[in-house]
Amino acid sequence: MSLLSVENLSIRFRTGDGFVHAVNDVSFDIEPGQKLAVVGESGSGKSQIALSIMGLLAKNGRASGRVMFGGQDLLQMSQPQLNKIRAKDIGMIFQDPMSSLNPYMRIERQLGEVVEQHEGLSRREARKRVLEVMEAVQIPDARNRLRAYPHEFSGGMRQRIVIAMALICKPKLILADEPTTALDVTVQAQIMNLLDEIQQEMGTAIMLITHDLGVVAGFCDDTLVLYGGKVMEQATTLQIFDAPGHPYTRGLLRAVPNIHEVAGELSAIPGSPPNQTQPPSHCPFGPRCVDALDSCAQALPDLENWKAGKRACLRPVEELS
Ligand SMILES: Nc1ncnc2c1ncn2[C@@H]1O[C@H](COP(=O)(O)OP(=O)(O)OP(=O)(O)O)[C@@H](O)[C@H]1O
Ligand SMILES: [Mg+2]
Repeated sequence: MSLLSVENLSIRFRTGDGFVHAVNDVSFDIEPGQKLAVVGESGSGKSQIALSIMGLLAKNGRASGRVMFGGQDLLQMSQPQLNKIRAKDIGMIFQDPMSSLNPYMRIERQLGEVVEQHEGLSRREARKRVLEVMEAVQIPDARNRLRAYPHEFSGGMRQRIVIAMALICKPKLILADEPTTALDVTVQAQIMNLLDEIQQEMGTAIMLITHDLGVVAGFCDDTLVLYGGKVMEQATTLQIFDAPGHPYTRGLLRAVPNIHEVAGELSAIPGSPPNQTQPPSHCPFGPRCVDALDSCAQALPDLENWKAGKRACLRPVEELS
């Protein structure tokens, strides 16, 4: 049985202008210890998928489909039931690290509270666990920094604390939403290495959300490419890089900096994201696609097998530019 099974997940938001169809019929599985990347441009629905798994959608949002975890559908759970699962079984690293830390609370309390609440540890036991986890995320001189406040740490160290908070109850799955976006390149690499080590030592599965395919290479086993809330392509990360089967994936790859390329060849995909007030009835990427056929404006392609993965595209792979 998969650790997490997302089946036909759709998410829509009620707004003054009607419904926003943010996520449309998305399915994927995460196996124990697997590292899955969810990639797509801003607005493609990445964060909302993670938030719906955690039961943290905004009040105007509704999720349908199923999110199976440990034999139970998370979408059907009450908030108290979800509270038990959050942190203890599924940890989340939020897109904005500062929003998950309380600026007025010392680090020891901030982390300690989580295990006291979820595992009923005493103060003393909690302190021990806090130290362990601060050492696991490689915060130097951890013992002497227990009483520090978040602002006393650098951006990279603060992100390590956020990761420590997600890890402290030893969850089976971590949802990491753009964990390195706010950091400079060197610190980004350190944090990705850290996540990799943690995954290997603890066997934690990780769902990594990012807009940057460059971050995914060398870290994630598998990659799910989203556009307009729909899955465009799903494959091993190796296949995504070696034999991308979707024009959108190819476009994203052209936007990844590559040391072999001459500066200036890097290209963002022209055009703007889809209007999501209508549920998609044709390929959402069609209007921006260099390979679009006439039929792409009428039909919604199914996810079909391509090599060891899947792609949703009406144009045969051999004809892609
Ligand atoms: N509360 C809300 N009400 C209406 N629309 C919303 C709400 N929250 C999110 N959306 C819409 O849902 C879509 C998906 O948003 P989401 O946050 O998942 O994007 P994302 O892929 O994480 O983008 P980014 O890379 O910018 O973080 C967007 O079009 C967004 O405007
Ligand atoms: Mg997001």
